Amino acid sequence: MEYVRLGETGLQVSPLCLGTWRFGEESGGVVETDREQAHELLDAFADHGGNFIDTANGYGGGDSERWIGEWLEDKDREEFVIASKCYWSQVSRFQENLSRKNVRAEVEGSLDRLGTDYLDVLYLHRFDDDTPIERTLRTIDDLVSEGKVHHVGLSTADAWKLTKGLWKADVNNYEAFTVTQPMFHAAYKEDVADYLDVCADQDLAVCPYSPLGGGFLTGKYERVGDGTYDVEAPDGSRGALTDVFEDWYVSERGWHVLDAIRAVADEEDATPAQVALAWLMAQDEFTCVPIVGARTTDQLDENVGAVEVELSETQFARIDEARYDEDGAVYESDA
Ligand SMILES: NC(=O)c1ccc[n+]([C@@H]2O[C@H](COP(=O)([O-])OP(=O)(O)OC[C@H]3O[C@@H](n4cnc5c(N)ncnc54)[C@H](OP(=O)(O)O)[C@@H]3O)[C@@H](O)[C@H]2O)c1
Repeated sequence: MEYVRLGETGLQVSPLCLGTWRFGEESGGVVETDREQAHELLDAFADHGGNFIDTANGYGGGDSERWIGEWLEDKDREEFVIASKCYWSQVSRFQENLSRKNVRAEVEGSLDRLGTDYLDVLYLHRFDDDTPIERTLRTIDDLVSEGKVHHVGLSTADAWKLTKGLWKADVNNYEAFTVTQPMFHAAYKEDVADYLDVCADQDLAVCPYSPLGGGFLTGKYERVGDGTYDVEAPDGSRGALTDVFEDWYVSERGWHVLDAIRAVADEEDATPAQVALAWLMAQDEFTCVPIVGARTTDQLDENVGAVEVELSETQFARIDEARYDEDGAVYESDA
């Protein structure tokens, strides 16, 4: 794997980050990824040369961080770039999400579960409208001075809130966002276009979450009849286990984009998942490091194969433009 520069952090990371949201997460009565599978996935990712791992304080009720921490015990911590997040309190309901008290408590909890002295990146999981962002940034600035957090990032937020956070950090001389984490994939781009414009302008690294639309862009879901949301989901897949799958990931636009991805995959002797990830890695306006989720090491092996897929300009444009109909209008996302 060729490592890439993570925006202005100065960190060199693998071109794909490993997402660990489903570690310890229960859906439809099934633990999607248990401890042993989590460690197998982490081993496989590291064997491929992956060094960038994404987690959050609340994933699997803390099991995601705990299992990563256990796995890290016999590894060299310095070889890995660990990103976690805070927002929803795991500790107490008597504070606002990004209040000083909550941010401090959540970061201490994450460090404890991960068994590490520092987080490479701390993302704000959401934007807290009840706490002035400068207070949150001041708190994180202190954590940076204490060496507990190295870089700060922002996940889902309106573009203007991202801009406001950058401005407040600038005028107060606080540590500013250098990394972002929007939901972003080939069928979900207009929705975050303004946010991505800010990232391009400010040289912020973009680490898209759900880069395969939760598995939709792997092509394993089939449309049933003419309806957008009538989906045939393979047994045991996220679409079969969770009710929200169609709302979150399926759209009319998505089906058109998937057709284009499948066609390019056939030409390249690649899989749709690999082409969908290659399309993200080929973004040229900002560093783009997709956070891949995988339930099995076979899925992970397939997804990591995306680093070998190089799209021509025409193939990139065909996927990009599949979101439009003949009259130039964007298909409604319906999501
Ligand atoms: N900041 C946020 O608010 C936020 C939100 C969501 C996620 N995230 C981060 O982003 C990461 C990735 O999100 P995601 O899991 O939604 O990503 P995704 O890559 O869009 O979806 C991953 C899922 O697709 C299926 N899949 C993946 N590769 C496959 C393959 N090659 N063949 C067939 N199926 C395949 C698997 O589900 P099944 O096998 O179960 O179908 C897998 O769990 C998370 O782990 C987390 O770290 C962050």
